[in-house]
Order: sequence, then structure tokens, then C-alpha cells
Amino acid sequence: MRIGVIGYGYWGPNIVRNFHSQDNCQVTLVADHNPKCEERLKKVFPSVGFTTEENQILNSKDIDAVAVVTPVWTHYELAKRALENGKHVFVEKPFTYSVAQGEELIELADRKNLKIMVDHTFLFTGAVRKIKELVDKRELGDLYYYDSLRVNLGLFQHDVNVIWDLAPHDLSIMDYVIAAKPEAVVATGERHLNGVEDVAFITVYFPKHIIAHINVNWLSPVKVRTTLIGGEKKMLVWNDLEVDEKLRIYDKGVSMSTNPSNLHQLLVSYRSGDMWAPQVEQVEALRSETAYFLKCIEENSKPLNDGEAGLRVVRILEAADRSVRSRGEAISL
Ligand SMILES: NC(=O)c1ccc[n+]([C@@H]2O[C@H](COP(=O)([O-])OP(=O)(O)OC[C@H]3O[C@@H](n4cnc5c(N)ncnc54)[C@H](O)[C@@H]3O)[C@@H](O)[C@H]2O)c1
Repeated sequence: MRIGVIGYGYWGPNIVRNFHSQDNCQVTLVADHNPKCEERLKKVFPSVGFTTEENQILNSKDIDAVAVVTPVWTHYELAKRALENGKHVFVEKPFTYSVAQGEELIELADRKNLKIMVDHTFLFTGAVRKIKELVDKRELGDLYYYDSLRVNLGLFQHDVNVIWDLAPHDLSIMDYVIAAKPEAVVATGERHLNGVEDVAFITVYFPKHIIAHINVNWLSPVKVRTTLIGGEKKMLVWNDLEVDEKLRIYDKGVSMSTNPSNLHQLLVSYRSGDMWAPQVEQVEALRSETAYFLKCIEENSKPLNDGEAGLRVVRILEAADRSVRSRGEAISL
């Protein structure tokens, strides 16, 4: 598999390194408008070609798949041209800038029998894999909530607000773990510095009373990556900044019943059992994800993080923007 990578800014080098490390794959060309990227690339990968002209990748007969690692507003155009030229596409999160763009790319890829994979990196981390396993095995019981704090100082993006920058991580994790179609979104946010929301709070309503909340912020003095998932049987805390015990499962819960001798009286019992930290696989997520992309192409199988998965995230992002503009109106999905 010969890969061309477009965009060698902050994230691009990780994509190049991980595709480059796969046995059955070769990164043949990297394109970035910024000529200074060439020196950075050549220092690490002297054998990989560099160009400032993305058309050299998009029009190349020697490239089978294109990774789009450029700002969000460029994803659609670059992915579309890659698909039109018969290339599979690995595209950064969030998939596109609008639902309409995402739908068009999915239709184009289907027509051309090509794969789209959206880089929902977290789905390939040991922690999220373990959470998915626990939820699927019903260790947590029926889910009550997903509550995430994803805050830090910067990095300010110019083309998207903090929702489009940071929330795709949680939205893709929720899509994978909760695996239910959300019903509505309520979002609030404020702009302070560069004309886009830099602080935002998003609530997503799912069927069966599952509620999710995501707090994203570029103006936080400290970096926090903590998610709570509460279930009827157990609850977990995922602190992604922990090196060892990223996941802690608490055998805690609450049950309520009515007093048989006084039906107006509620009996509340709190359960506080053991806490345990399961083993979490320590492999680099992008390494697994890039290998999976190559495998899906080779076996002609549907990636779990395909264009549809990307579109489900964009649908919520678009609705969240609408809700923010109306200061928190509930938008049905
Ligand atoms: N999956 C993740 O965890 C993760 C993390 C960070 C960024 N990202 C995503 O990666 C993408 C890039 O983010 P970044 O932080 O690396 O941005 P960046 O601004 O640091 O880098 C983007 C690079 O793309 C180049 N570029 C823009 N348009 C181009 C074009 N048409 N042809 C060639 N080069 C072009 C720019 O010159 C720049 O060097 C974004 O979509 C972002 O959301 C994903």
C-alpha cells in the first residue's frame, strides 16, 4: 500500500511515523504548503518524498491511499479529490465541516468502492477498548451517564471552535461505547479571544435516560482528561493523564425501594464495594489504527470508524453549534 500524507503540521508527523512503521505499507510522498516542513520530515524520514503541491499526491498514479491531516475546513475538498482519483482516504477528525459534505463523501466512496476511515484515535486506545468491553459485558449494568472534562490551555484553532476541536474525541467514544442514536443536544459556549467559542458545555440526550455531558475549554490553567461513566451496577473513572491506573472501576451504586409497611417512604441503600484498576493495553493507538486501515482495505471490510461514524459525530457538532447560537436551545437529532 502506497500512502500520500497531506499536512505535516502538529499531527501529520504522527500519521507519517505510524504508516511508515507498518510492514505492508510505504509512505511515498508528504505534501504541505509550508516549505519549512521538508526539513523536519527529512530529518526523521530521509527516504520519504516532500512537495508543497498537494496535487502531486492527489493526481499520482503511484499512490493508493491518502491521509488528510490538514485543518478541518480543507478535509472535504481534499478527501473528495482523492476519492475522485480512486484513492482510499484516511481523514482526520472531525470528518467534515458539515453534514452535507460528509454525506457527499460517503456516497462518492460507496460509488467508487473505496474506503473512508476517520481518525477517531481514542477508539484504538487500551482504555477505551477496555471500557467498551466492560460495557458490552454489562459489568456496569444499564448506563446512566457519561461525563467528560477535556480542558487545557490552548491550542487555539483558527478555523473551528473548541467544540469542533476537542468534543469529537468524546463524541466518537460515546458513539462507540453507548452505541445508541442520540436524541437531542443542548450546548452553551462563549467567545473571549479570537471570535470562536473557547469554552463550551455540551449535553447529549440518549434513549433509556442515558445522558452525556462534555466540558471543553481552551482557557483552563491545567490540563484535565477525566471521564466518569456511571451505571446501575458499577461506575468508572478514566483519567487519561495517569500513566498506570488510567481506569478505576468502583463497585458503588444506589438502589431505592419503597417501605412495604409505608408506601410513601423511600428506602435508599448505598453500596460501596471494592475499587479495582484493570490492566489496560499500552500500545500506541495510531499504530493499531493505521494497521486497521490497511487491513480493512486489504480485506475489503467496513471500518468501525468509517465515514458513517464520522458523520454521526459531525451531526452532533453541527447541532451543538446551532444550540450555542441560541444560548442552549435543545436541538433534536
Ligand atoms: N486525532 C487526533 O487526536 C488529532 C490531534 C490533533 C489534530 N488532529 C486533526 O488533525 C488535523 C490537522 O491538525 P494540526 O493540529 O496538525 O494542524 P496544523 O495547523 O498544525 O497543521 C496543518 C498543516 O496542513 C498544511 N496544509 C493546510 N492546507 C493544506 C493543503 N491544501 N495542502 C497541503 N498542506 C496543507 C498546513 O501548512 C499545516 O502545516 C485537524 O483536522 C485536527 O482536528 C487530530
